[in-house]
Amino acid sequence: AKLADLNPSKLSTTNTTTPKEVMPPEELVFGRSFTDHMLSAEWTASQGWLPPKITPYQNLSLDPATCVFHYGFECFEGLKAYKDSTGAVRLFRPDKNMARLNQSASRIALPTVDGSCLTALIAKFVALEERFIPSVRGYSLYLRPTMIGTQRTLGVGPPGSALLYVIASPVGPYYPTGFKAISLEATSYAVRAWPGGVGDKKLGANYSPCIVPQTQAATRGFHQNLWLFSEQGENGETEEQVTEAGTMNVFCAMVNKGTGKKELLTPPLDGTILPGVTRDSVLELAKERLVPEGWNVVERKFTMKEVAEASDEGRLLEIFGSGTAAVVSPVRNISWQSRLVDCGLKEGEEAGPIAKRMKAWIEGIQYGDEDHPWSFKV
Ligand code: COI
Repeated sequence: AKLADLNPSKLSTTNTTTPKEVMPPEELVFGRSFTDHMLSAEWTASQGWLPPKITPYQNLSLDPATCVFHYGFECFEGLKAYKDSTGAVRLFRPDKNMARLNQSASRIALPTVDGSCLTALIAKFVALEERFIPSVRGYSLYLRPTMIGTQRTLGVGPPGSALLYVIASPVGPYYPTGFKAISLEATSYAVRAWPGGVGDKKLGANYSPCIVPQTQAATRGFHQNLWLFSEQGENGETEEQVTEAGTMNVFCAMVNKGTGKKELLTPPLDGTILPGVTRDSVLELAKERLVPEGWNVVERKFTMKEVAEASDEGRLLEIFGSGTAAVVSPVRNISWQSRLVDCGLKEGEEAGPIAKRMKAWIEGIQYGDEDHPWSFKV
């Protein structure tokens, strides 16, 4: 028999009897408060997806032997719902998150979903939680689709059952300091991802090992790690490739030494880089709007040595991270090999022109100021 897929027409809703108070936007801390309800659906290997439910936000009850607790069967997504100037609710490129969820889930033997069905369910969930979406620019409702293996077994094998759920958290700017440049510590003693690994999947297991290095960097005054990956170059020299910044993809704007042309660089999706939705959006917008201004937009590997050299020669224009949580996050400097590499921001400046324009372009689409196919009206 064909296994059942997620079916939005089978959705049942149980409303909360104890509605929460909506927090004033200025009191929001990223990911700390949640809405009244959650969306969930169970899956079994024999039946497929059972009818989805919206229920009051509540604890899960799981046997201590449940496989997620032992072998890390967990993947997640992050996307946001925005309120536009007319009060309508919009998602941003949800199809991208659905596709990535399926990539992540299938890598760890969890089931996949029909992306358009899950988007339709999320749209219903978000519509129900509409009062929690702040109508202030820079604020939104962060959605966290999560999938876990729920089979009660210590046996190491594909989970025979799974739970998909989506929770929602009203959020403001990711960093409490707002849109401010951050300092990075170039890190090579710990490696975030490696060829043949799972660094390109959004697995919880990719995030927990990064916390200790991040805490270490913080003791030295740096906000995040700049994750490097070292490889032997053709000349036998060790190349320290720039990969990601904290939990974000990374972009580097510099003047090409040979051609004198301005270039926007980001590492290619070689399996070690998380395929960020914001990363893809920055690339697409750069191709559309910066190339006509004479920029080259290039997905290629680049090294910390190149970045430092560009900085020393005055060719480094700016560096920024990109992610759903922060949109873009400008970088002031990078600690590398006992020196501080300046990333090109002027004195007292918190972001370079490309980071500023990208943020404005992307937010313009997210909040519906610019009519664009990436914006999905709920
Ligand atoms: C992002 O959106 O930049 C992230 O991946 C952060 C999230 C894990 C909180």
